[in-house]
Amino acid sequence: MHKKIAVILGDGIGPEVTQQSIRVLDTIAEQFEHQFEYAYGLMGADAIDKTGNPLPDETIEICLNSDAILFGAIGHPKYDNDPSAKVRPEQGLLKLRKTLQLFANIRPVTTYASLQHLAPLKASQLENVDFVIFRELTGGIYFGHKETNADQTIASDLCTYTREEILRISHLAFQYAQQRRKKLTLVDKANVLETSRLWRKIVKEIAVEYPDVETDFMFVDNAAMQIILNPKQFDVVLTENMFGDIISDEASVLSGSLGLLPSASVGNGSALFEPIHGSYPQAAGKDIANPLGSILSAAMMLDHFGMTEESERVREAVNWTLQHGFVTKDIDSVNFYFTTTIGELICDHIAQKIRTDVNQTNIELRKSTII
Ligand code: IPM
Ligand code: MG
Repeated sequence: MHKKIAVILGDGIGPEVTQQSIRVLDTIAEQFEHQFEYAYGLMGADAIDKTGNPLPDETIEICLNSDAILFGAIGHPKYDNDPSAKVRPEQGLLKLRKTLQLFANIRPVTTYASLQHLAPLKASQLENVDFVIFRELTGGIYFGHKETNADQTIASDLCTYTREEILRISHLAFQYAQQRRKKLTLVDKANVLETSRLWRKIVKEIAVEYPDVETDFMFVDNAAMQIILNPKQFDVVLTENMFGDIISDEASVLSGSLGLLPSASVGNGSALFEPIHGSYPQAAGKDIANPLGSILSAAMMLDHFGMTEESERVREAVNWTLQHGFVTKDIDSVNFYFTTTIGELICDHIAQKIRTDVNQTNIELRKSTII
């Protein structure tokens, strides 16, 4: 198969983790005789520095002409600490989501037995935790009318949802639940918010079309607690834009590291794949960032292309590195491997260059010199 992939390296650790995904995709292409063609575009603080615009038109053009988009990370501390900045890196990502109508952000939360000690929860609570958050991505308070009065004493952000916006992601989430454990939880604040009451009404209405899926409803404050208290109760979690942003960061601690979680943003056209972590500027350029969030996002991209055998090979390789302690500094601060080494090990595993009968020491010859 031939696929055109738009690549946006972005800010901070974005470039170095995305480069590992590209190596992985190239290895897959080689092994399975596909052609992946990359076109690079700018976005975020990097784009502001180079062009003054967080999302140049050329990047939108590149994305519109591709089958999928692979994105690194966005954000820079110089904008975070300046509330008066008119142009911000994040505007680039928000505009891209809106322009491409990427209305559903899919964030799987997986736990790994070998990493349970890193999560702040007891191992017994983490067993069998496997759920997916469906976050609405192009509506709600993120995109509502924003206003600050003249003397800067009052500010407001409007939260609006239309029936159409709720319907399209809800159907997707129900269909996804049908392929999984058949449970869907709508997270909202229907005891207070009008928009949440609309979500609840519409989800109840369409639930009858999916009789095999058990539907339940949970207020977001309770959900925040339940994710920590009893995460295995969840299968598919459906929620609006801002609640989804917050609970997906919260849920990421269950896997042991924010650096591990991938995401896919899908709509009617091409889809975007990005790790859920931020730009982590303190680690940029040091070759210590965890590339797995990005590599697993590339695996989701392969699924999106219908290349399921290929995506399985990537996930097997990722699991193999985790099981054997080939991990970055966020996971093991003493015996850690570099970003590029993890990328290389994963590629070698995919290309079946690593023989399972070879002992650990031989594999470990790749070990970073720091250890
Ligand atoms: C995310 C991020 C973004 C969001 C930021 C960078 C605008 O936190 O993808 O979760 O809030 O959606
Ligand atoms: Mg977020």
